[in-house]
Amino acid sequence: MTIVKYKIENRIAWVSFNRPEKRNAMSPELNREMMKVLNELEFNDDVGVLVLTGEGTAWTAGMDLKEYFRETEAKGLGGIRQAQSESYGWWRKLRWYQKPTIAMVNGWCFGGGYGPLYSCDLAIASLEAKFGLSEINWGILPGGGATKVATDLLSMRDAMYHAMTGELINAEKAAQWNLINEAVPVEQLKARVTELAEILLQKNPVALKATKDAIRRVSEMTYDNAEDYLIRAQEAANSFDNEGRKEGIRQFIDEKTFKPGLSTYDI
Ligand code: ACO
Repeated sequence: MTIVKYKIENRIAWVSFNRPEKRNAMSPELNREMMKVLNELEFNDDVGVLVLTGEGTAWTAGMDLKEYFRETEAKGLGGIRQAQSESYGWWRKLRWYQKPTIAMVNGWCFGGGYGPLYSCDLAIASLEAKFGLSEINWGILPGGGATKVATDLLSMRDAMYHAMTGELINAEKAAQWNLINEAVPVEQLKARVTELAEILLQKNPVALKATKDAIRRVSEMTYDNAEDYLIRAQEAANSFDNEGRKEGIRQFIDEKTFKPGLSTYDI
């Protein structure tokens, strides 16, 4: 059984955590396998959008407490650092992934799971999904970036409450708190994610990559630094895609076949 599954359908790569019997807890093996799969798909021309989901009742129950913590700690500092670099490594790859990414959160999402949740550009959850920074419940702080995720996405009060109490929140509250984009009934989850992926598939891919990176980068910049970054980012994107935006202007101004305020140009 492969611990990370994927299939490509109509330019969407459906990647899933596949350890349902362990609620998709992230073990070192799973982390290594996920990195391989992400590498395989990143520059595959058959893939336009990547969706990350989970088999069974969990998206992911976070880090594997036995294999990731107990067993790697038993190997000493070298083992700990290696396990960290394997997990943080694929989350980082996913944060800056070449293709747009959507977390399709089908169930439980705990602790370390906030790393890949944040790495995905967009997140849609089933109303049945539940989220928790459960670290405090077993005696650690939310590490592996989870505290940073909470403070980036939630208000200070909500982040503090969430991290200090370890209480679960449901998907509706997760959407209210901006941890995810929206929550939908479970029977609509795949259709809604497909619909969203199809919107992204119609966009200029060079502009999409530049846009998603810009959203992450500029949030930490002053206005003037952001202005400068965005000029340079657009000019860099132009060097990969000289014709795309000119074609968009042509279809609007000359052909009058679309209006950019209302839809996307025909790529
Ligand atoms: N690490 C290791 N094993 C896990 C994990 C985990 N994070 N989560 C579940 N499992 C294992 C269980 O030990 C159990 O194994 P077993 O069948 O060999 O006994 C199996 O998965 C099924 O788990 P259950 O608890 O029986 O499943 P249930 O559906 O009743 O509950 C739930 C699901 C709520 C997710 C529960 O398993 C749980 O609380 N898991 C831990 C969640 C958590 O706090 N994760 C750590 C976050 S902190 C961090 O990531 C740094």
